[in-house]
Amino acid sequence: MSFTIPAAARIGDPLAAIDTPSLVLDLDAFERNLELMQAKARAAGLALRPHAKAHKTPQVALAQIARGAVGVCCQKVTEAVPFVEAGVADVHISNEVVGAAKLALLAQLARAARISVCVDDASQVAPLAAACAAQGSRVDVFVEINIGQDRCGVAGAAEVLSILHVISAHPGQLSFKGLQAYQGRVQHIRPLAERREAALAAGARTKAVVDALAAQGVACPVVTGGGSGSVEFDLAGGVYTELQPGSYAFMDADYGAIEAGELRFEHALFVLSGVMSRVDARQAIVDAGLKSMSAESGLPRVWGREGVNYEVISDEHGNLRGAPLPVLGDKVLLIPGHCDPTFNLHDELVCLRGGVVEAIWPIAARGLSR
Ligand SMILES: Cc1ncc(COP(=O)(O)O)c(C=O)c1O
Repeated sequence: MSFTIPAAARIGDPLAAIDTPSLVLDLDAFERNLELMQAKARAAGLALRPHAKAHKTPQVALAQIARGAVGVCCQKVTEAVPFVEAGVADVHISNEVVGAAKLALLAQLARAARISVCVDDASQVAPLAAACAAQGSRVDVFVEINIGQDRCGVAGAAEVLSILHVISAHPGQLSFKGLQAYQGRVQHIRPLAERREAALAAGARTKAVVDALAAQGVACPVVTGGGSGSVEFDLAGGVYTELQPGSYAFMDADYGAIEAGELRFEHALFVLSGVMSRVDARQAIVDAGLKSMSAESGLPRVWGREGVNYEVISDEHGNLRGAPLPVLGDKVLLIPGHCDPTFNLHDELVCLRGGVVEAIWPIAARGLSR
């Protein structure tokens, strides 16, 4: 026996008719965020390459590219596949890629789109070149430098130069494109003054490497990096030529909690939840828990209900406390703590304009993390 699971939403549905839990996007706020970021990048003369790991949704990338983004970043090779299939012509894998299967896929993608990738070890280069040779494709290569994240990335110009030497041995397959310099910890520093200072320090570390390379006659055509929390300072820093923010389009609760500077983005992403129990008068239980949104960066915030807080999260439940509490059957919009892992929990994004469903976008790269 088989059953048909009803759609959570249909085009034209009002918000109240959407089944819960559902991931929903306020298109007006989302588009204002895209336009603001694009206008700032354009005014600064910088390329905008938004990070697609934030949303994993090709239609989001196409909306960014339609407004002037040069392409997108992906964090993993498989994540890039639905974007290239959807027509994104320029994808930067902002990460190191190791292993024959991954490299073969990367080299295949490079036959359909312009692909770039990071390296931080000379031994990563020859397998990359061999994969490209096998596919008859070329990729652009960035050397990643460590500017304080202490994750991937070489220490400085001397290490970049020795990797460049190996890259230059494969002129038919690889072109050196520049540096990737990303400092993730800066992004979420809450006091604005401290965040500015940390972003400027990361920029200064990057500039020192760019200058040292220039002194050796090596130009970096592109210096790529930056995220939603540092972008305001990266725009003016004179170091980056390309910016990679992702979350700015959605603004999760964690980003909403940092002290905003002059560049202010709006909350556009919500988990629509439904009140499923009011048996205890002190709390309302909603049907969206850890299987609908991540909480490693903090609990969700309740949207538009002053005095009500989401206080306890479990797999499929959330306890709302405060007053006035919603009643059984009410729908409650929650701002997820962290947008990236939240997108990864959903198959589709229900897009609303003026409270009515205008589109339903597949989160096509959901789960693609190899
Ligand atoms: C390499 C890289 N670039 C850009 C970003 C974008 O960050 P955000 O979504 O915070 O703007 C990230 C996020 O972790 C990242 O790892």
